[in-house]
Amino acid sequence: MTAETVPKGGTPGSRIGPVPRLAIPARILAVGAYRPGRGIANAELSESLDTSDSWIVKRTGIRRRCAASPAETVVTMGAAAAGKALASAGKTIDAVDCVVAATMSYTGQSPSAAVQIARELGARRVGAFDVSAACAGFNYALDVARALIAAGSARHVLVVASERMSDLVDPGDRTTAVIFSDGAGAALVGAYGEPGIGPMSCGSDGSLAGVAGQDFPWAHFRDTPGCRRPYFRMRGPELFRWAISEMPAVALRAVDAAGLALEDLAAFIPHQANLRMIEAIAERIPLPGHVVVARDVEDQGNTSAASIPLAISRLKEEGAVPAGAFALLLGFGAGVAYGAQVVRLP
Ligand code: UT7
Repeated sequence: MTAETVPKGGTPGSRIGPVPRLAIPARILAVGAYRPGRGIANAELSESLDTSDSWIVKRTGIRRRCAASPAETVVTMGAAAAGKALASAGKTIDAVDCVVAATMSYTGQSPSAAVQIARELGARRVGAFDVSAACAGFNYALDVARALIAAGSARHVLVVASERMSDLVDPGDRTTAVIFSDGAGAALVGAYGEPGIGPMSCGSDGSLAGVAGQDFPWAHFRDTPGCRRPYFRMRGPELFRWAISEMPAVALRAVDAAGLALEDLAAFIPHQANLRMIEAIAERIPLPGHVVVARDVEDQGNTSAASIPLAISRLKEEGAVPAGAFALLLGFGAGVAYGAQVVRLP
């Protein structure tokens, strides 16, 4: 890309750096999304739960979420999103050296979702493994892809974030059932002439494990007669307060690590947990007015690791951000675990 063609949000002369000597820079070449066919509007949920459209919209911004059919699995949804990313980049699976899947809801567990996604795409020899970092999974998987390319271990890495949160959430628990959703997003990451993925600013705090996560291990369910199955639970208000107080600094560190200023950003694409929370974090960073803030959550709900690549895909489909512009990605959730980085948009 010449200096003249660099759009706003990727000002001429600005670049993500520094790059260690010998390291090969990488960027996201293309993204793909898969949204299950069945959408569930708030009104439908209020038929079976003590909730309402007005409560959900006011507290979360969510109007609709997606429910996967039995045929729409973590593997099939992930492969569909990955296929779209490959097609958009004009590549085939043959160009891919490694598939990294980010998921917390792959109930098959072993072999990994990544191996199965690779098989679904027709690959037999690519590297494949899963990353588990809950709603920050895409950020971690993207950084692993960047590192694989920087190290010379791969030229192209498919990062696939796929979630069937409907398998983890208690349908009778209104504090989670109205929020979580199913879907998949993928990014094809490839070696590139200049760095397009900044260093990740990441962290975790296991002392907050009870704030979001599975309520007890599957082994306890197996070993305890009469025990119900475990579910993903959340102490929403605590997580909300933690995120809006801690995440702005994490985001700022990522911008700083990329050698950029907030003015250089064209988009803020955080984990799509709750629109109110997204807006509070954006305000506290504080982001300049020209930065487009992703709002995929309104129509898609919270798809955990898949939420960031799904949000990138929507912004691109809408033409809301130009290719080559800088976007700040910020993922956070169960663990608690979090990660942020600046990327050049495909
Ligand atoms: O993806 C991982 C990251 N996730 C997050 O970061 C989520 C962060 N937290 C949140 O998004 C919000 O805390 C929630 C959306 C989960 C909850 O919103 P809130 O504004 O924090 O509400 P609240 O939990 O403080 O509940 C307020 C009231 C309570 O009733 P009382 O005690 O005031 O009588 C709840 O029982 O709303 C009640 N409530 C509901 N009412 C209708 C809770 N859930 C619902 C519901 N419908 N679905």
